[in-house]
Parts: sequence; C-alpha cells; structure tokens
Amino acid sequence: MPRTLSLEELGKDELKGVPVMVRVDYNVPLSSSGQVSDTTRLEASLPTLRYLTRHGARMILVSHLGRPDGQPDPKASLGPVAQVLEGLLETSVPLVTDPLDSPELLQRVEGMEDGEVILLENIRFHPGETENDPELVRALTRLCRVFVGDAFGAVHRAHASTEGVPRLLREKGGRAVAGHLVQKELRFLREALEDPDRPFVAVMGGAKISGKIDLIESILPRVDRLLIGGAMANTFFQALGLEVGKSLVEPDRVEMAGTLLERAGDAILLPVDCVVADEVTSDAKTQIRDRTEIRPHDRIVDIGPRSRDVFAKEIAGGQTLLWNGPMGVFEMAPFSEGTMALARAMAEAADGGATVVVGGGDSAAAAQVAGVAARLTHISTGGGASLDLLAGKPLPGVDALESSDKSLEEV
Ligand code: 3PG
Repeated sequence: MPRTLSLEELGKDELKGVPVMVRVDYNVPLSSSGQVSDTTRLEASLPTLRYLTRHGARMILVSHLGRPDGQPDPKASLGPVAQVLEGLLETSVPLVTDPLDSPELLQRVEGMEDGEVILLENIRFHPGETENDPELVRALTRLCRVFVGDAFGAVHRAHASTEGVPRLLREKGGRAVAGHLVQKELRFLREALEDPDRPFVAVMGGAKISGKIDLIESILPRVDRLLIGGAMANTFFQALGLEVGKSLVEPDRVEMAGTLLERAGDAILLPVDCVVADEVTSDAKTQIRDRTEIRPHDRIVDIGPRSRDVFAKEIAGGQTLLWNGPMGVFEMAPFSEGTMALARAMAEAADGGATVVVGGGDSAAAAQVAGVAARLTHISTGGGASLDLLAGKPLPGVDALESSDKSLEEV
C-alpha cells in the first residue's frame, strides 16, 4: 500500500508565510452549559499545529461539530472550541464567520501574519460540506496553497473539506499532505493489520454485529484469536442454539454469526458465563450464569468472572492486541466489571511489551474510566474512521492526499 505523504516531507519554504488549511476533527462533546467536556481531539491536533507554527505557516483551521444539517445552529458553534484551543496553543484563535466565498475572508487570510491561526465556523453549517459540493470546494481551495489532512475521525467521509479540497488543490498545483495525527493513526492501525507481532489477539464487543461485520470478516483471517463479548456475543449464542432470554440480539444476523463460527474454528472465543439482570438499570440485582443456563426472563449485561479470566489469559499471551467495543453495559457500574477487567488486562499486556491498539469511541472511553489510557500503545481518535480502516474500506480523506514513493525507513 503506498504511504501517505507527511507534513515533514514538505520543503520548509513551502510553509513559511504560506496559507495552510488544516482539516482537524474538533467534533467534541459539549456539556449542557455548552463547554467542551473532552479535549482529547484538540490535544491530538497540537503536534501538527505546533509544527506549522514553528515553520511560520498561516493556519486556517476547518472542522465540523455535530450534525447541524447544513444550517447555522448556535448550539453547534465552534466558539467554545476556539476558546479551549487558545489556552492550549497560548495564542489567540479567532472564530471566523465571514461567508466562505466572500472577498472579506480572502482579504483576511491574505493579511495573516506568519504563525497566526484562525478557525472557520462549523463547516457543516454549509449544506455543500456533506454533499462535497464543487462551489464550496472552490471557495475553500482559493484560501490556501497547502492542505493538511489531520482530521482522522472524519477521513472516512468524502466531504468538501476532507476530500474535495485536497483533490482540487492538487489539481491546481498545490500540496495536500497528512498531518501528524493522521500519520500516527495510519501507522498504528495499518501496522496492526499488515504486520502484527504474533500472537495477534483481537477483542470485539459493543451492541451490534451489524456495524462490525466488515471488520470481523477483514480481521478474522489475520488474527490468532478473536474474543467476542458485549451484546454482540448474544447473537453468536443464539447461533449456537443457546437461550438468551430477553437479551439484545439481532435476529437477522444469527445465520451470519453461525457461518462465522463455522469458518473460524476455534479462533473465535465467546464468553463462557454472563452477568444477567432483570432490567438494565443501575440499581438492578445481578446474577452470574453459565452461558448454557440463561433463563427466559434474563438480560445479559456483561461477561461473567470466568470469562474475564479466560479473556485475560488470552490477552496476556498476545503480542499485538486490538480492542474494539465494551464487554457489557459499562456505563452502569454494576455491569462494568467485564470491560474494566479487560482494560486492566490490556494495560498489563502493554506494560509487558505488547502493542495495544484501541479503536475509538466506547473502548477509548472505557480505557479512560478504567484509568489505564496512558499505559496503552495507541488509542484512536476516530470511531467510524478506525472501524472503516480496520475493515479495509476506502478512506476518501486519506486517498485524496499525496502519496510517497519512500518507505517509512527512508523518511
Ligand atoms: C466522529 O466523531 O466519529 C467524526 O467526527 C465523524 O463524525 P460524523 O459521524 O458526524 O461524520
């Protein structure tokens, strides 16, 4: 697979005094009072922004926040993000609301100083963004000579600011490269798949198989073991003819689960016991049951203690570990132990020298709750993007960037 050209591979004179558009993913959670409640994605963009600052680039940051549906929505303004970013970068980051095709915006960009940063208001306030509309692409492209794709969480979207701008800019003779975050994500997630140290153990969980079929299909032939927990496991239980009570299942995926089990032989490992509850509430009473003894009124809410031990042992034996999805309803304390035990096992494996890569979203949140995030090798900042990458799907926001003939060692 060709390697994506990185920011460091540009000549220094290609950045100094040059307007550089940086597509970042500042789609961050906001509290009820509208404050940024998790700054991980902002912090993840700092290496690229600091590099560009050091090299005297003039930075025009572009991001989406939420899904405002092509309409301005004060609740989805990037204002609170600009404030936090100012603190992190220790420089002023004005939020720019000028129309994107206006002469005022062009003038503003032309008047920027070296190292100056501006943030354009939420790009999804424009309907053309998700439609990858050529007019919006043109309006954005005229503002810059270099594009840096650093919004890993959005590289699976073929939108104007992720795919259209780098494509058109290159056609016009400009440059389009990957920022530090995208480079790092590609390195860890692709390497895990392409050249893993063995044994390679993947752990998958979460509610549904349906969103992860492609991922399971893609990694099954590459892994030595695939451990499956979370409500996803229930559909596999049903394929084995086991009672699952009132647990979440996907009836239309039972047949597929059966086929995967047949194909995988002993590579797929399912929980041997489960935590069950009458209802999914944080004060519900729980019981431990063997997976063959689930009763009709039970709801499976977590993997059981024997499964935790079995999974932990497999994880301890792995050299490359990939984790995507929780083992139970970990947001509720009585159902979180399986996921927390898994997170601890992952951290111990990483302490012992294994490479531990965590797909974004819920697993990243679980690693934080378990207090082990800093011990893991790499936690992806992308949910859907990391799933698509691991499933081998095209990533338009990466494919639109320049590729390099040089291998990583030569850079
Ligand atoms: C994410 O949070 O996964 C990315 O920012 C992509 O957001 P989207 O699913 O709204 O495109």
